[in-house]
Amino acid sequence: MFQLPPPKDDGLYIPTVGQHSKAKHYFLTRYIDAFTTAMKDKWGELHYIDLFAGAGIEKLRDSKELNWGSPMIAAQARFPFNRLHLCEKSKRKFDALKSRIQEKHPNPQVLHGDANIGIHEIVSDIGQNSLSLAFLDPYGLHLAYETLRSLSAVRTDLIIFFPDHLDALRNWEHNYLDNPNSNLDRCLGPGADWRSLLDKTPAEYRAERLRNLYVSQLKAHSGYSYFEYERISHKKHPLYILILCGRHKLAAELWRKIAEKKPDGQRTFPFD
Ligand SMILES: C[S@@+](CC[C@H](N)C(=O)[O-])C[C@H]1O[C@@H](n2cnc3c(N)ncnc32)[C@H](O)[C@@H]1O
Repeated sequence: MFQLPPPKDDGLYIPTVGQHSKAKHYFLTRYIDAFTTAMKDKWGELHYIDLFAGAGIEKLRDSKELNWGSPMIAAQARFPFNRLHLCEKSKRKFDALKSRIQEKHPNPQVLHGDANIGIHEIVSDIGQNSLSLAFLDPYGLHLAYETLRSLSAVRTDLIIFFPDHLDALRNWEHNYLDNPNSNLDRCLGPGADWRSLLDKTPAEYRAERLRNLYVSQLKAHSGYSYFEYERISHKKHPLYILILCGRHKLAAELWRKIAEKKPDGQRTFPFD
């Protein structure tokens, strides 16, 4: 399995993140390797999109390890992407990312600002004869459904961070229920009646039903047909799920293959 040597402290800004970030990057690294290997001879160009890109290097809170961030993992793929398209809202992280990424990949598009606005500039920079992989990894419910619709103008598979426990289920009753323009409404998109769904569903089934609602929105309005899921937890507490969305069954097949083996070395079995 392809693995990058760990980063060194380069003196630029390094944010501290939760330990669970390592599991997220485990799946991303493996998927990028499988995706670029499988697709490199099938498409004119391969692009990588990272709308919530971070600083490029992060420090894990518990172990103090340094880890590559998602854009730097993509920049060092064994079979390189033709172009990277990155967006980051925090100026401090954007400055660090811009310096780091230029060392590893030629001519990346790096935007500073809100991804839900920058998406239009990114989409217009990607040609039709290309396939993209988009990693959409905000902290909470900050990925607007409209942004996914804009992204569907280019041919792209998606890996979405969906913060069910981290945000939606933690905040819906107190912060979102009475606000018709809440983050949960913007994330799930038009016509998603999450209020009555969560109200009538027993607590232990809410995460799964909410995920199904999100996926049905993606199927209906964004043209994705193939979905795979990976639950990310910390010390047995569920935090969020990674959702792979593909237009072709090959994307789901690649995901199943790379996700067979978990970060702790365990294998899944068909009856799990
Ligand atoms: C979970 S971190 C991303 C980590 C990165 N994808 C990685 O895996 O290394 C989320 C990032 O999104 C940024 N962010 C939050 N809201 C944003 C927005 N609306 N547009 C762009 N970036 C945003 C935050 O500053 C933060 O760096």
